[in-house]
Amino acid sequence: MSERKYKNIVILTGAGISAESGLATFRSANGLWNNHKVEDVASIEGFQRNPALVHDFYNDLKKEIQKAKPNAAHLAITKLQNNYPANISVITQNVDTLHEKAGNSNIYHIHGQINQAVCLNCGHILETFGDVDTETTCPQCNVQGMMKPNIVFFGENLLCMDKVEDLLRKCDLFISIGTSGVVFPAAAFVQTAKYYGADTIEFTLEPTANNFYFDRHIFGPAGKTFPPYVEELLSSVHNKKEAD
Ligand code: APR
Repeated sequence: MSERKYKNIVILTGAGISAESGLATFRSANGLWNNHKVEDVASIEGFQRNPALVHDFYNDLKKEIQKAKPNAAHLAITKLQNNYPANISVITQNVDTLHEKAGNSNIYHIHGQINQAVCLNCGHILETFGDVDTETTCPQCNVQGMMKPNIVFFGENLLCMDKVEDLLRKCDLFISIGTSGVVFPAAAFVQTAKYYGADTIEFTLEPTANNFYFDRHIFGPAGKTFPPYVEELLSSVHNKKEAD
């Protein structure tokens, strides 16, 4: 990785960045998808088949997430955003609110947010950490029983993709933290960034499915590995200032 002074940095995060905050990832040994069938709780067919089961799953997950605190990796993103002179965006696959709790800015939740529900009748977004279920009435159109967790299910379009495409084309540094790189289209974001000339680096526990597109791989818990990298970026800018 060069001592390049970056202008547009994109940080893609996955469940791994929240692991040290006590939240389960999806595909590890005791991951969420080992204890729940994806097709039952994360597909549009599953929601149509049994909406009460899906609401229960996300209401339980919401309680877990509400208790979680951001860790050193989330806080290091805030430090980078506050001290490195570049546009720095966070594209997250996570539905938790730890980036917000850590004070990150420019956050794009492409898979939705646990503290939101969407009305399938009028499109209203209800922000709540309270339970949502098949009895919930939409506060905008007053129709009951049409609320769905604002989570992007397999088979649905991602959110914020127009902005994401623009960010990926413009970025000169693409950082991936805590994602296995197996779920598309997020898994191909690094390929787009690389194609448009970005330096690319990933922080995970072990080699990922799309590691071919990363210039650098830093293995280990992101709470330990990412803050020193932020210091490396900040000192490179500081040294550059002194040299200029
Ligand atoms: N620090 C850094 N990386 C970690 C840590 C940690 N403490 N703990 C786990 N990881 C890494 C793992 O090595 C793995 O590469 O995080 C990744 C977690 O992978 P997944 O469980 O597959 O989670 P994610 O990549 O976010 O899943 C993507 O799949 O089911 C869908 O919508 C869901 O957004 C999710 C998407």
